[in-house]
Amino acid sequence: MATAMGVSSGLPILGQPGLFQAVCFFLLLLYSHGGASALSSSSSSPPSQKNTIAVFGGSGFIGRRVCEQLSYQENVHVISISRSGRPPDYYCPNHWNANQVDWIQADMLSQTIPALPPLTAAVSLVGNVEPVPHWKGFFGLGFDDEKLRIENGLVNERICQAAKHAGAERFVFVSVSYEVAKAFEGPIEGYLDGKRRAEFAASDAFGNDNTVVLGPSVVYGGKRFPRLGKLYRSFVESKLAKAYVTSNQALRNLSVAPLQDWLEQAIFSSPVDVSIVANVICAAALGQVDRSVVPTRRRQGFWNEQGDVMTYADVIFVDGTHEIERVSQEVALLEPLSNKENINSARAAKEPIAEGGMENVTTYLRPLPVVAFFATIFWAVMTQQFIQTVQILPTA
Ligand SMILES: NC(=O)c1ccc[n+]([C@@H]2O[C@H](COP(=O)([O-])OP(=O)(O)OC[C@H]3O[C@@H](n4cnc5c(N)ncnc54)[C@H](OP(=O)(O)O)[C@@H]3O)[C@@H](O)[C@H]2O)c1
Repeated sequence: MATAMGVSSGLPILGQPGLFQAVCFFLLLLYSHGGASALSSSSSSPPSQKNTIAVFGGSGFIGRRVCEQLSYQENVHVISISRSGRPPDYYCPNHWNANQVDWIQADMLSQTIPALPPLTAAVSLVGNVEPVPHWKGFFGLGFDDEKLRIENGLVNERICQAAKHAGAERFVFVSVSYEVAKAFEGPIEGYLDGKRRAEFAASDAFGNDNTVVLGPSVVYGGKRFPRLGKLYRSFVESKLAKAYVTSNQALRNLSVAPLQDWLEQAIFSSPVDVSIVANVICAAALGQVDRSVVPTRRRQGFWNEQGDVMTYADVIFVDGTHEIERVSQEVALLEPLSNKENINSARAAKEPIAEGGMENVTTYLRPLPVVAFFATIFWAVMTQQFIQTVQILPTA
């Protein structure tokens, strides 16, 4: 007798490469690097302040808000290090202290790493999940795992060493949520390997209790899907969507093997507002996020494609939207940044419709492609396109 069985985890979804890669592509658009337009680096002489915090990747989508939020803090001197230097002009209007931030232009993968002043803490937002530019695979989207390991792992190992060398006591890093890591472990192995490498490097250099890692799923806000992000969140948090996911899981639990669909869980997890993420990063850099604020130990339970067990560093891990929001409220560092002013200034400055790296892919952001894309995801999930059917043949 043949039995049909759904299979869980990130690996089986490879059974539908075209569709899966389409989903990947859109999610990656959300992540795509915020390398802004060409930017001059400016430098102001550091005032005699107590805390100097280095923000690696401070010009990016999340990083620029971390710099802005930190610039409002008393006794904090902020240094940003990124390949492009200062964020675009539309993000640095006069209403915030952008000129007090030292915007250093440097590639942390190059031979020459900039000399850093004595640091109190360091933050790294450096990462990359860009697909290869040429056509690859069935749907055309492919990844160079080795490149992703370098641009997410090696680069952050170097950042950890530089920050440690400059005397930083704490390190804050942005990785991905447990659910996203589970779902994408097979398909974008290089990205998650790189993240894991970075986290171990931070844990080795600063210790688990002085390393805070945030695990968001998808981050929205500012000029990156401000309305769609909220809409998407309302949808995944609606009773209908929750009932759908719960009943699906209940059905899978009837199987002889315990099954979970991690892609479904990742797709149906709440996105988080960028200003909340920035708030928690700043609080962590200022030493306000410790084990008393995040007592839960990090969830493990990962297997690679060969079925070997892998572990993640047991750092202070703020996992997922709800936990990031809880911590943001608990530390109550500052009111999260209101993005309104930036959006208005951006409009006045005739900036493109999306922030960061997404400026180059605005064609995909028109209402029709977006609606078509989400309709496809919805159809795929409803009809279980990501669940592979395996036939278990009877033993003779
Ligand atoms: N956005 C999301 O939805 C999301 C979700 C989960 C996790 N994350 C993670 O959060 C982090 C920040 O995300 P984001 O959206 O703010 O990314 P982003 O806009 O792409 O910013 C990345 C920053 O890193 C800098 N950078 C990259 N490679 C560098 C290098 N070799 N040397 C120096 N600087 C380098 C970039 O500089 P240039 O722009 O000048 O090149 C940019 O400032 C990433 O690691 C990402 O994986 C993001």
